[in-house]
Amino acid sequence: MRAELEVLLGNLNALKREGVTDIFVSEEALSALRERVAAVASAVPPARTPVAELPPKTVPQQKLRVNEPVARIPAPDARSSASAFPSFSSENFYSTKKTPPLASPKAPPPAKKEPTFDFSVSEARAASVPANGSNADRLAALREQMLGDPICNEHLHAGKQLVFGEGNPEAGIFFCGEAPGAEEETEGRPFVGPAGQLLTKMIAATGLSREQVYIGNIMKWRPELPTLYGNRPPTPDEMRYCLPYLSKQVEIIRPRVIVALGLTAVNGLLGFDPDRRIGAMRGKSLEFKGVPVVATYHPSYLLRNDSMKSKRAAWEDFLRMMEIAGLPITERQRNFFLPKK
Ligand code: URA
Repeated sequence: MRAELEVLLGNLNALKREGVTDIFVSEEALSALRERVAAVASAVPPARTPVAELPPKTVPQQKLRVNEPVARIPAPDARSSASAFPSFSSENFYSTKKTPPLASPKAPPPAKKEPTFDFSVSEARAASVPANGSNADRLAALREQMLGDPICNEHLHAGKQLVFGEGNPEAGIFFCGEAPGAEEETEGRPFVGPAGQLLTKMIAATGLSREQVYIGNIMKWRPELPTLYGNRPPTPDEMRYCLPYLSKQVEIIRPRVIVALGLTAVNGLLGFDPDRRIGAMRGKSLEFKGVPVVATYHPSYLLRNDSMKSKRAAWEDFLRMMEIAGLPITERQRNFFLPKK
């Protein structure tokens, strides 16, 4: 129980770091939360109860305050399910939404173990990809090496898969995310959950398909948690461990531009900086292995902050990326998410 609440607090704190101040919680999720708080409170002596930071039972329905300024998460029932994306339709661009899981399945949390890393393993393996051959063959060899990496496998959740990345081995655009989530570790493919559906729409809005670009992550496994649900950002150590694989992917594909989706992707590519903020990185000239990097918001952030302002901001990053990649841009595309005259 406590582990579940710690995960929830971790997620709330991550939102807070992104600047979110208000979130909306369904009645159902609130009751589930109350049950868990009550269970923890009855299991520990009151004097030492650290659940005081969690919403008390009298918390107003629907809205929990997370402290400082910003965005709001629409009530789950206000969210529509994924719909097909008519290409070039900015109106439908961000309509793929799913309720983020707040309540959890009732499974006992596995024992927590500290991650261990032997950096030499991934460096050596990633470096041993054949120097010649097609990009597809070289990527396939790298993928095999990652699949056999004992450290990656050691951190994998039982029955789940590593996520190497996928797409066009000759892609001009490389989308780099943070780490696989629940859907991704189940399918072994990047960006297949709600954030992935939005990313797919964003890619379609550029006039390209998912198959024409490459999509990967800083991390190759889903960062472990003491619970079976929830996500956490990877640690700097975890990111450093996986970086040789990503580096090699970029080296093989040699894209014209990398799109860093969210702060963790920027930190993974440029080196971890706790003071870095995604808003301050947008629009900057950045590079990874000599390839220009465009920093933008993570699609999950856009799912939570679907104002025209944030949509337009992300789209402007995409326009910059399209310019760097040499893609044609129509007048209509230039005007996506601008107020109608
Ligand atoms: N978020 C990411 O950063 N990567 C994925 O593959 C899925 C969700």
